[in-house]
Amino acid sequence: MHHGGTGTPHSFLDSGAFIERRHMSESWFVRKVREGSTLLPQDWDRLVDAHHTRSPGGTFSAFAPARGPAGLSSYETLARAVTQTVEHTSAPGVVVDVACGDGAALAAVLRGPHGLRSGVGVDRSSAELVGARRRLGQDVPLVQGEAGRIPLSTACADAVVCHLGLMLFTDLPRALADIGRLLRPGGTFAAIVEAPPTVPVADSLEYAWGKVLNDFWNSEFDSDLPDLPLDGRFEPAGLAELCRSVSAFSAGATVTDASVSLSLSPEDLWDRFFSGIYLISALTERQKRRLRAMAVTSFRCHAAPDHTVSLHIHLNLLVARRAQPQAMD
Ligand SMILES: C[S@@+](CC[C@H](N)C(=O)[O-])C[C@H]1O[C@@H](n2cnc3c(N)ncnc32)[C@H](O)[C@@H]1O
Repeated sequence: MHHGGTGTPHSFLDSGAFIERRHMSESWFVRKVREGSTLLPQDWDRLVDAHHTRSPGGTFSAFAPARGPAGLSSYETLARAVTQTVEHTSAPGVVVDVACGDGAALAAVLRGPHGLRSGVGVDRSSAELVGARRRLGQDVPLVQGEAGRIPLSTACADAVVCHLGLMLFTDLPRALADIGRLLRPGGTFAAIVEAPPTVPVADSLEYAWGKVLNDFWNSEFDSDLPDLPLDGRFEPAGLAELCRSVSAFSAGATVTDASVSLSLSPEDLWDRFFSGIYLISALTERQKRRLRAMAVTSFRCHAAPDHTVSLHIHLNLLVARRAQPQAMD
């Protein structure tokens, strides 16, 4: 999942953490951050891969209970977008799920009423593909592969979906071009992407989280939160423009709000959602326990009378059609 940081200021220095730090065994990633080394896209790839090996299915567990205003999860919003726009010129309709994880988006599309009846899941994590096999059964082909170099044939798909994968592709133009290659002319690409971080409203849960994370990081590492290599790349206008620069999507793309909210107890919100943030999954167990305690204490101040707290997750839906041949370069 995403970085999850915000621009709130950090405040205190915890001398207990300073002493204990000498005794902890940090991940290579956190060590690198603490030493102030520049983080490279391959560091991010390694962090993401380690997370998905350790916690396959974590994205589904975090996002499945979150709902938008129409009562749909982001998986259902994606499925609806693709099944409503796809034209059935070939039967059976084929959908490819790029960065499928444990297959929840593909399952949602194949469940839909609009005739996409066969699917292929692609992911680079073998642990996630084990989950996808379990969810999707034996009849759905699953391919271990890297975005940008997907080992499927040109124009094999009526639709391509990608749920929370685009933000992780270090060479995004190449990944988009390859997705365009997979689509038949007129085929639909639909993706759920993280929206760029906004400045949270003071006193909101999002604001409280930003402050907790900054305070934790500052006290634990004597440094500011790192700038991660792939952070903050999804301004809607920039994303639509990037699609237009790929010949398959030269007709452009639409980017619309697909935000969802999650209401859980403070503890469940941590365990299901925040603990899955990539940066946090790289912390030591002791650091995770400390951050959890700080976060849960802060979240409790935002609880409703039923003891739940609500987190708003800013997402966008991208939809692009592969240009017909005469419109392509
Ligand atoms: C945030 S998870 C989303 C999983 C799934 N689509 C979902 O939403 O439940 C990101 C997924 O992208 C995969 N991934 C990351 N980088 C990738 C790449 N370059 N090529 C293929 N898969 C990648 C990860 O292994 C992981 O399964």
